[in-house]
Amino acid sequence: MRRAACPGSYDPPTLGHLDVITRTAAIFDHVHVLVGFNPNKPGLFEPSERVELLEEALADLPGVEVHQFAGLTVDYCRDNRIGTVVKGIRGAVDLDYEAQMAQLNRMMTGLETLFLPAEPQWAAVSSSLVRDIARLGGSFDQFVTPQIAARTRQKLAPSS
Ligand code: PNS
Repeated sequence: MRRAACPGSYDPPTLGHLDVITRTAAIFDHVHVLVGFNPNKPGLFEPSERVELLEEALADLPGVEVHQFAGLTVDYCRDNRIGTVVKGIRGAVDLDYEAQMAQLNRMMTGLETLFLPAEPQWAAVSSSLVRDIARLGGSFDQFVTPQIAARTRQKLAPSS
């Protein structure tokens, strides 16, 4: 069974993320979507909420499961017999950052990383820009699912 992991912060998941996960699921038998914690990125949603958002968005995609994880990607993958990480690459900045992690992961345990070029439609979309637009009251509906747009607005509403 070919198993892959798609780790990310997913805060919130964008249509670009969902595209990469869908394409990964077309190549691999089983995909673990991993909601990790990046200490350099201030959060909007709790990791458990991101898991819920992803589970809802990916409910119709067979062979995909979503998990929160706290340690190293290499440890999760070794413990779950996953040999490949798949990451979407939007441009040179992503590639620099991801290639460095990919190389260290391979040096640590032999974990391989495959890069999928972002669909041009989503190449400029990032969770951090979606959060910015949402916080400042702009329209971000075209970058996320309707459910995630609604949950993001709810999250940012003054009473929450
Ligand atoms: O949204 P991101 O920035 O692509 O997500 C990054 C994340 C959380 C997936 C990444 O930081 C990660 O894999 N963290 C787990 C710890 C780890 O394995 N770090 C890399 C060591 S080479």
